[in-house]
Amino acid sequence: MKITIIGTGYVGLTSGTCFAEVGHEVTCVDNNPEKVATLLAGQVPIYEPGLEELVKQNVAAGRLKFTTSTEEGVKNGEVIFIAVPTPPQPDGSVDLSFIEKVAREIAQCLTPELGYRVIVDKSTVPVKTGDKVEQTVRRYAPAGVEFGVVSNPEFLREGCAVDDLLHPDRVVIGSNDDRALAFMQKIYEPFVAPVLVTDINSAELIKHAANSFLALKISYINAVANICEASGADVEKVAEGIGMDKRIGRSFLNAGLGYGGSCFPKDIKAFIHISESLGQPFGLLKEVEKINYDQLDRFLNKIREKLWVFREKKIALWGLAFKQNTDDVRESVAIKLAQKMLGEGASIRATDPEAIETAKKFGELKGDITYHTDLYETLDGADALVIATEWPAFAKIDLTEIKKRMRTPLVFDGRNLLDPKDAKAAELEYISIGR
Ligand code: UGA
Repeated sequence: MKITIIGTGYVGLTSGTCFAEVGHEVTCVDNNPEKVATLLAGQVPIYEPGLEELVKQNVAAGRLKFTTSTEEGVKNGEVIFIAVPTPPQPDGSVDLSFIEKVAREIAQCLTPELGYRVIVDKSTVPVKTGDKVEQTVRRYAPAGVEFGVVSNPEFLREGCAVDDLLHPDRVVIGSNDDRALAFMQKIYEPFVAPVLVTDINSAELIKHAANSFLALKISYINAVANICEASGADVEKVAEGIGMDKRIGRSFLNAGLGYGGSCFPKDIKAFIHISESLGQPFGLLKEVEKINYDQLDRFLNKIREKLWVFREKKIALWGLAFKQNTDDVRESVAIKLAQKMLGEGASIRATDPEAIETAKKFGELKGDITYHTDLYETLDGADALVIATEWPAFAKIDLTEIKKRMRTPLVFDGRNLLDPKDAKAAELEYISIGR
């Protein structure tokens, strides 16, 4: 199939590349000429395992092209995906201006001679956005143009995006147009995944409902973790025990500092806003959010309780990314934690396997902070070690070295990466979540 993707962010670039990988002819459009030049040179502007090799291979095979021209994209692609950002607004609602702009641009490039086109929304959008896209394209396209509109939400996770795209749990395709659905089914034919066909509103809603449910699992286990702490139970065992029930499942029951990233915080807010605007307030999700944000303060209080004051304290901070296997620091709980500790006068020596440069560029960390690529170096003379991101490498650390290098061997593990028994054996004072 001939596919065009408009927007080469996380979702656009990885899905475009994976569509090319399974044999489709893909044109990726981005309005940022520097980004397009970087991609044409075979470089990928984000850290995502396996992506750069796939981009190079598919560009070399002639299946993947990059351009700044929407006109070229609309000409090349019989199916045109919109994968532009849908950022949050201060009131929690979603800013759909990029979607609206792209819909207009596509409309203005359509001609009756091009033939039928399918316009697919892949960005995370509120329910009923498809209707708006359809109206906008209809209004701005020349008379006689034929097109269908589809919602095809993306469920990839950063850090394992390529694998998620090539081997999805499911593909959701929503449209009220049978012709458009047939095109979409052909696109997904090479993927071994169940395809769920729905109307357009249901497809849009599935994305927000899925992300909110996953966030709910995280807040649920964090609330349970707090009860474990108060009662002397172990949240890891509780998560294991409830997760063995197939109806519940063990995944997304890792207690810790809560969820961050560019999706969950924004999407949960958006779903709360959408439900309110539809006259169906979703109080449960408000509680999910509250538990999530309280989790950081609780953890900070645990550190404060031990250190008493942050001023003149050296803190080794492990983790800057919002989760493992990514260099993304957007809405990272680690960054928020660091901001609070710096604000109270601590000096921080931070490390992260991939996110040091993005954290520096992000520019949100001001104060006495230095960055180190060597984990052990951060520990020299430190008053406390704070683990804030669940990188597997942190769990493999030599605990005796921690004890040797720190001024006071106080370890705050915000992601339950270490084994409390091992920490005790290494004579560390170890504080984690719900254990
Ligand atoms: C999430 C969803 O998992 C994807 O399915 C979805 O496509 C994506 O949002 C999106 O909407 O684009 P992502 O934000 O990349 O993916 O990362 P997750 O792996 O879901 O982790 C989100 C946050 O939850 C991280 O901060 C992570 O540390 C936290 N988390 C995750 C926990 O605290 N506990 C867990 O058990 C799992």
